[in-house]
Amino acid sequence: MRVLNTPDHDLTRGCVLVPTMGALHGGHASLITAAARRARIEGVPSAVSIFVNPKQFNDPEDFNRYPDRLDDDLAMCERAGVDIVFHPPVDVVYPPGEDVTGDVIIPDIASKPGLEDTYRPGHFAGVCQVVSRLFDLCQPSAAVFGEKDWQQLQCVRTMSKLQGRDLQIIPAETVREASGLAMSSRNLNLTPEARAQAVAISQALFASSKMSTPEQGESLMHDILSKGGIEPEYAAIRPAETLMPVADPSLRPTVPCRALIAAKVGGVRLIDNAPWTPIAYA
Ligand code: PAF
Repeated sequence: MRVLNTPDHDLTRGCVLVPTMGALHGGHASLITAAARRARIEGVPSAVSIFVNPKQFNDPEDFNRYPDRLDDDLAMCERAGVDIVFHPPVDVVYPPGEDVTGDVIIPDIASKPGLEDTYRPGHFAGVCQVVSRLFDLCQPSAAVFGEKDWQQLQCVRTMSKLQGRDLQIIPAETVREASGLAMSSRNLNLTPEARAQAVAISQALFASSKMSTPEQGESLMHDILSKGGIEPEYAAIRPAETLMPVADPSLRPTVPCRALIAAKVGGVRLIDNAPWTPIAYA
């Protein structure tokens, strides 16, 4: 495995890239495995980028608290058989005095009311900037993104298409702990009590799919979260692709939907989502 601070020809000949901010966990392991499999088929290197992007944090405290575990991350990449780790310093990603993110497109899906943008304004602008820059620097033929960040996945997919990139975006399923808690780097900041409490998030998501309308599903999610002592930022059911608010939440939707939750638990902001198919269709 090679660790690069600046891209070289080995990396830019069409790698399969997993962009990360480090603090790698089992969820990343599944993204990396998907990337390694794809890279073998294509005969190109698998690559993991590790860069904590300051531009996507609108809360400086959240940025400062973001876990830094580079040695563990490198060991995990080595074990997973990653060919290249790209670990650039800030001035390689954002060279001072150079406008490197001028052609970034921030798709509409970034700003659907009531979801991430309402609670983290500007977050997806920062994500689109860094992902676009990583794509420019690494020139991947494919990139793997986790479904746990569903809105991010849709954003990156749309941006890449609008930019006309010759690049496949590969989604990878959310990996959960035995309790149902979605794996996330932020889980490292949960106390044991908060970790136990956070289980209500996945319980609410999965229980909601037993309801037949978004209205009922959302109301059940709020009940379960409230019983678990969690007041969510949002607990919403939206069409999976557009994330538009549903026209009439009291009717059964005709397109696949996604149940999505964001909540602070013990001061740690967690997000999760699950496919939502009304029981009558299942
Ligand atoms: O999902 C993440 O870890 C980040 O948002 C990403 C895609 C690596 C961009 O910094």
